Amino acid sequence: MYSTAFLDLPPLVRAGGTVRLPGSKSISNRVLLLAGLAEGTTAVHDLLDSDDTRVMLDALQALGCTLRRDGAVLHVTGLGGQLATREARLFLGNAGTAMRPLTAALAVLAATQGGCFELSGVPRMHERPIGDLVDALRQLGCPVEDLGQPGYPPLRVGTGTPVALNLDAPIRVRGDVSSQFLTALLLALPLVTTAQDVVIEVDGELISKPYIDITLRLLARFGIEVQRDGYQRFVLPRGSAYRSPGSIHVEGDASSASYFVAMGALAGTDAPVRIEGVGLDSIQGDIRFVEAAQAMGADVRGGPGWLEVRRGAWPLKALTLDCNHIPDAAMTLAVMALYADGTTRLGDIASWRVKETDRIAAMATELRKLGATVEEGPDFIAVTPPTQWQAASLHTYDDHRMAMCGSLAAFNPLAGANCPVRIEDPRCVGKTFPDYFEAFFGIVTPAVDAVPVLTVDGPTASGKGTLAAELAARLGYHLLDSGALYRATALAAQDAGISLEDEPALAALAARLELRFADQRVFLAGRDITDPLRLESTGGLASRVSVHPSVRAALHALQLSFRRVPGLVADGRDMGTVVFPGAELKVYLTASADARAERRYKQLISKGNPANIDSLRADLQMRDERDRTRAVAPLKPAEDAKLLDNSSLTIEESVARVLGWWQQRRRF
Ligand code: DC
Repeated sequence: MYSTAFLDLPPLVRAGGTVRLPGSKSISNRVLLLAGLAEGTTAVHDLLDSDDTRVMLDALQALGCTLRRDGAVLHVTGLGGQLATREARLFLGNAGTAMRPLTAALAVLAATQGGCFELSGVPRMHERPIGDLVDALRQLGCPVEDLGQPGYPPLRVGTGTPVALNLDAPIRVRGDVSSQFLTALLLALPLVTTAQDVVIEVDGELISKPYIDITLRLLARFGIEVQRDGYQRFVLPRGSAYRSPGSIHVEGDASSASYFVAMGALAGTDAPVRIEGVGLDSIQGDIRFVEAAQAMGADVRGGPGWLEVRRGAWPLKALTLDCNHIPDAAMTLAVMALYADGTTRLGDIASWRVKETDRIAAMATELRKLGATVEEGPDFIAVTPPTQWQAASLHTYDDHRMAMCGSLAAFNPLAGANCPVRIEDPRCVGKTFPDYFEAFFGIVTPAVDAVPVLTVDGPTASGKGTLAAELAARLGYHLLDSGALYRATALAAQDAGISLEDEPALAALAARLELRFADQRVFLAGRDITDPLRLESTGGLASRVSVHPSVRAALHALQLSFRRVPGLVADGRDMGTVVFPGAELKVYLTASADARAERRYKQLISKGNPANIDSLRADLQMRDERDRTRAVAPLKPAEDAKLLDNSSLTIEESVARVLGWWQQRRRF
């Protein structure tokens, strides 16, 4: 997962390849609650692992459910409808799919068995309405106390003392703000059907009906057959009891699929985008996004558990659509609209205003930054593509879908532009799809020369490795420690008994170097060489190996291959001069020999290695001299390099200085 402050996406031109989707959030949290209430143990397969499911799991654990992980399977042993804990405070983040159903279930359990529970979340959760559900629970006789603003979390349910519930009259709930209120009641009320049928009636037009279908299907899997009359009246039959299905599979998230369907529609020109984990047989309402994407021109094939998408019509066809049936995935249409042949108008989306953020306002603001013309109303948005695209830094409002939607704007070269796009706070995708950007980068192709490179060159022990690694971490970029390639060549030569003067043999060795970088470790032909690689003596050998022009040439292509989306930070001696002469920013570090010798000395001592500062200084001066005076790619600053003398700077100060230069060169 990218947890950088921002993530810059270079302009992209194609998408193709396979992605496997994480589990559906809606299904995961419903299944978890049902398994948590049921008697017996349920093996949950392919559960989504994200912020929203984590808060649900924490809540279940706090309530006394037993959770056991076995590889990709989670075994949940439920409460069998009986409170194991009578008091708890539950923090539910910004997960509506946890807050609403848990409020209902705990209100009912606390009222009938005597209990008292507090439910709270992040500040935004406390702005998301829950009053209609609270009203319904109060009709029933459940004590519910507002701990903040009435009608919003935080809430306290139950007083600790059992009360009699009024189950004779139908329970009325409004259905026009969020379908999650009805879902919450449907999931919770089987708990009180011991003596009679329980009836729920919906006031007003129910929105987001497909989510109710998911709830009903999952209730059926747990042994509860709801009788219903359309979406107006639901009857939970007397004697309903949750029965664990034993094992249940969570299908991939259809809303998450929408971004990849869009990518196929935009940029699946050579190969399709193949999506695995969700298919045309999905029980999730958002699968109908596929029809909307087809209406815009996408070429979609699919079957059970898979979809394949290519570009069909181009530009996309503008669309006018009521999106009540696909409220979440409809956001993706708003971004596809940037690539359409006219104005796309999405209606019946008032629920966007009470989601993770006010999504109508957020979408309008961010699409305008890209150059689009956007009209918004209480329940609609109309998007006209930019005539002039602009590079933009997109704010994401702690809303995972704003971040994933924003990524689609990076395909602007397909509409004749060439703009990078910055996604602010990319970690917000953790709500439903923690590895979204990894999956995204796995299937996209950047425009020619669009992947940014930042080079850090400098002499031995100048701190360039530390600086480069920190910059890469801050930017979410790949890292090339080019010295490691020369060091590995030297080690391989030693192993193979090749003389450091035998240029042809060394070059042949370098050309077929089997190097792998993983989890901060380096492997040479499968062997972990991280420690020997870093030895002072290995650096000295590398310096000798690196004087040979044909060795340098042999390592050239390997170094270039590190330049991948979203970007690269490369450190070495000739990164800015020879390997990446077109780099966006070149930094040349110049610390004094004394300062460098002292740093290296402290480094060695702190690791318990014996060291002598005078010989260290002499060694590194000799190495500098060799690196500087060699005929090919000598160590020197590129003409357009920024010089950074870090002798008296902390690492953090150096990082801040370079990030400042980097920012100046961005177009945001
Ligand atoms: O950066 P380092 O100490 O790991 O580098 C080891 C040696 O490799 C260095 O003395 C010279 C050589 N080298 C090089 O010639 N070109 C590079 N881009 C990186 C390192």
